[in-house]
Amino acid sequence: MKVWLDTDPGVDDALALGLILARPEFELVGLSTVFGNASVQQTTRNALRLLSLFARHDIPVHAGAAQPLQGQARYAAAVHGDDGMSGLAERLPPARALAQAQHAAEALLAASRAHADLHLLAVGPLSNVALALRQDPALAGRVASLTVMGAAFGCHGYTGNVTPCAEANIHNDARAAAEVLAAPWRALRVIGLDATQRVRIALPELEPLRQAGAAAELLWQAAQPYAGYYQTRDGLAALVAHDAIAVAALLIPEAFSWRHGPMRVVEGGLAHGQTVQDWQGLARGQAEWDALPAHAAAVDADAQALTELCLQAW
Ligand code: BDR
Ligand code: CA
Repeated sequence: MKVWLDTDPGVDDALALGLILARPEFELVGLSTVFGNASVQQTTRNALRLLSLFARHDIPVHAGAAQPLQGQARYAAAVHGDDGMSGLAERLPPARALAQAQHAAEALLAASRAHADLHLLAVGPLSNVALALRQDPALAGRVASLTVMGAAFGCHGYTGNVTPCAEANIHNDARAAAEVLAAPWRALRVIGLDATQRVRIALPELEPLRQAGAAAELLWQAAQPYAGYYQTRDGLAALVAHDAIAVAALLIPEAFSWRHGPMRVVEGGLAHGQTVQDWQGLARGQAEWDALPAHAAAVDADAQALTELCLQAW
């Protein structure tokens, strides 16, 4: 299947890219970058260098939003390091191509017209996807599917990772998320903390990556401080590879439990960036909810199946 990756690399974004490039089911036709884990200049540099690492510098990279549609960009240095790559960005091979001149949102639209049944994967703030939708709302009906890493619906106690109520990608651009979730996608799958946090890959399981070639070794190195951050937060020495788990939803959707229903995003105030899904139909009859299409949210994940898939790919 043809896929487009919108990303903010990012340690787990790098792991997602590694998974995409390793699996024969995927043909990555393009990649766009967005601010998030670091500035868009830095995430673009990281994307170009990661493609060099994987010897796939033939894949075009388009830089996108430097700021959210509303509010101010904030980065995730505590999780991914100042350079977005656990301090290893300069150790990646130099970029062997330049970013394309065309803006991410325009490139994404052009790709959706050029490739029938393109699947979009968005694993950063949703600013680029929202900008593309504003330019051409028909995007939602043209692409085969949109898979989003983002949100936290409160299952298993996961309500947020940047505030008690919000997950980072949604919190970073809540306006964009609200617009994207309101669009009538042919298939929209939202993979949030409810699913990704369920897949904790114990650090000893990653050891074989150290002997599996330059790319795998670098992913292993980048994963160590990233996992260390999670350890200081919840005491478990394990890798939570959010973005790679979202990519896996395109390959093995049966490894997730799904709930269907319309979704809304809280904008402003204490719960800014909170995602709410009316999967029980409790809000039926209310105009703001009735206007929204139903989408799928992953609310649980098969940790063993997903761990195996990732370890085989990296
Ligand atoms: C998401 O936020 C970013 O830090 C990660 O790359 C992932 O996309 C997890 O909340
Ligand atoms: Ca990301």
